[in-house]
Amino acid sequence: MNTDTILKTVHITKKFGELAAVDDLSFEVQRGQVYGIAGPNGAGKSTLYDLITGNYSYAGKIEFDGHDISRLRPYQIAKRGIARTFQIPHTFPSLTVEKSICVGSRFGSSEGLDLDHVDELIDFLGLESERAKETTRLNLLDKKKLQIGAALATKPKMLMLDEPMAGSNAIEIKDLMDVIRRINEKLGITIIIIEHFMKVLTELTEKLLIIESGRLICCDAPEIAISDPKVIECYLGEAFVAGQ
Ligand SMILES: Nc1ncnc2c1ncn2[C@@H]1O[C@H](COP(=O)(O)OP(=O)(O)OP(=O)(O)O)[C@@H](O)[C@H]1O
Ligand SMILES: [Mg+2]
Repeated sequence: MNTDTILKTVHITKKFGELAAVDDLSFEVQRGQVYGIAGPNGAGKSTLYDLITGNYSYAGKIEFDGHDISRLRPYQIAKRGIARTFQIPHTFPSLTVEKSICVGSRFGSSEGLDLDHVDELIDFLGLESERAKETTRLNLLDKKKLQIGAALATKPKMLMLDEPMAGSNAIEIKDLMDVIRRINEKLGITIIIIEHFMKVLTELTEKLLIIESGRLICCDAPEIAISDPKVIECYLGEAFVAGQ
């Protein structure tokens, strides 16, 4: 493994019955990168996250930070430094913002509950005025920030975001992009982001992996990937190109 490589998947395949949701996929993410993943609905993007975080067994190998994590349990992978958010944000309904972030700190971090770090994260995400609020009373943007806060509370080396912009308006997207940039630049955390908003991916990411039917279609700088004929054919469509 190249010393700058933080994540490496080697020919990973996950089948659900006859369907290969992830099909012989090999790629590498460099330390410190913001790395994008896109592809049509059902391409296998979220399943790929489930494999990296140890939720399913699979064929092939995944290395993280110089170690083979292929057979580890999800909690072991979390403690090695991988955190994620989910496509549909779920929160603990009876807990406050502060307590929810404490759960990430207590159970996900290898160091255990760190109240100072929880305070820092609430401040970092601009959730100070919401800290005592029950999570059900949060608006969508703050719910998303809370999910990110709970993930960051595990003190990850790499954060994986699954369609963080879904359902957000232009102002919320700008806000979330700023949060993601600061996590990468100020906290030094490697980021993988699945997104359908191409503008977000071209502005934020250094490299873009396009998958379809679980297979790698293209892996390149975002501006090159979005003009790749295979990517236009299977995902973006001619209308996208015309609108550029
Ligand atoms: N637990 C499961 N059992 C059976 N099939 C599944 C399971 N999870 C996902 N699939 C199937 O695997 C394929 C990939 O699904 P996945 O959710 O990973 O796609 P995705 O790229 O995240 O799509 P979207 O953009 O809609 O979120 C789909 O055909 C889906 O129906
Ligand atoms: Mg998905």
